[in-house]
Amino acid sequence: MRLSVIGCGYLGAVHAAAMASIGHEVVGIDVDERKVASLSKGEAPFFEPGLQEILTEGIASGRLSFTTDMSAAQGAKVHFIGVGTPQQPGGYAADLTYVHAAVDGLLPYLSEGDIVAGKSTVPVGTAESLAPRVSERGATLVWNPEFLREGWAVQDTVDPDRLVAGVPSLDGAPSEEGARTADVLREVYHPSIAKGTPFIVTDYATAELVKVSANAFLATKISFINAMAEIAEVTGADVTTLADAIGHDARIGRRFLGAGIGFGGGCLPKDIRAFSARAEELGRGESVAFLREIDAINLRRRDRAVDLTVQALGGSVFEKKVTVLGAAFKPHSDDIRDSPALDVAVRLHGLGADVTLTDPAAIENARRIHPQLTYVEDRDEALRGADAVIVVTEWDEYRRELDPAQAAELAAGLVVVDGRNCLDAAAWRAAGWTYYGMGRP
Ligand code: UDX
Repeated sequence: MRLSVIGCGYLGAVHAAAMASIGHEVVGIDVDERKVASLSKGEAPFFEPGLQEILTEGIASGRLSFTTDMSAAQGAKVHFIGVGTPQQPGGYAADLTYVHAAVDGLLPYLSEGDIVAGKSTVPVGTAESLAPRVSERGATLVWNPEFLREGWAVQDTVDPDRLVAGVPSLDGAPSEEGARTADVLREVYHPSIAKGTPFIVTDYATAELVKVSANAFLATKISFINAMAEIAEVTGADVTTLADAIGHDARIGRRFLGAGIGFGGGCLPKDIRAFSARAEELGRGESVAFLREIDAINLRRRDRAVDLTVQALGGSVFEKKVTVLGAAFKPHSDDIRDSPALDVAVRLHGLGADVTLTDPAAIENARRIHPQLTYVEDRDEALRGADAVIVVTEWDEYRRELDPAQAAELAAGLVVVDGRNCLDAAAWRAAGWTYYGMGRP
């Protein structure tokens, strides 16, 4: 099928390439000339495992192209909207400027019977308000949220846990137009549906809420275990053993119970804030008032990591050499948006520490925003002479591949703060290190 994808950032670029990889003919459209030039050469503009390969294949096959020219959308049957919805400056709500611009820009090129499929994360009620503009052109709007995780984006797009389509509905069921639209999306996602991926057809509001409530739930799970870490810290309990034990209960599950310095990235923080703001507008602020608490617990963990490091260095980090392992908001990503790792590094620097930071993928991005830190590509070089080491992103390079005995030979002081509870505490202690975990004795 001929598809267009408006917005070629994280979501859109991966979606375009993934759709081409399953056989569709796709044009990706973005206003950013540099991004389009790089994608057109088959170069991924950000670090995402597997993206480079499907980009190169798609372009070589002739099924995938990128342009800044919106008229290229003409002739596609389904037009995906994958632009960003960042947090508004000075507020909690989502900024929908790019969504409106994408839809307005696309309207002149829509034909009768086309489908506009919104993938961006939007406040509930957005699709309802956009639909009449799309209908005027004889096209239909569907909301088809995206659940991809960075680092697993290609896999999550080609082989998602579930597909959700919010379609025009009447009296709690898809209208005739809605049912027809859902059938077209079934065709788009056929390879995945054929493998058994659930395809849930619902109304606009439910589809929009599925996305924000999924992210709110995940954020809640992480902050829950971080709240338990705070209690563990004053009782001598070990939050990782606690998480293992409660995680054995199938109703709870162990995933997303990793206590540490908390969540960051381009989605969870801004999405829970936008959800709170939208609930307030709807007169139901109290229903999700707990999300403010989730946010607050999350941010406190960054303070805790900084305090632990100060404490570990005898009450001050001033002029102490602190090696920070990690800058990305999570491993397998070069994304530093709202990264707890980078935040901790910057705060230590602010307290007068001589911070040396290393990361397998995110140094370039981090340096652009925080040139005041010292960046070292080589992990072992970064460790040399450190008074303390703090692990803030759980890359395999630190978690599995860093030998504590070898690290001890490089560092000056054997103090390690495990901001992600990802190190083998016993092995580090055995190698002579004083180990500090998050919510662990
Ligand atoms: C998230 C959702 O998972 C995804 O479904 C949605 O589409 C976009 O937002 P992503 O931002 O890529 O994806 O990251 P995710 O893997 O969810 O991690 C978010 C943050 O939580 C990271 O900073 C990670 O380090 C942190 N985290 C995760 C924890 O602190 N503990 C955990 O147990 C899990």
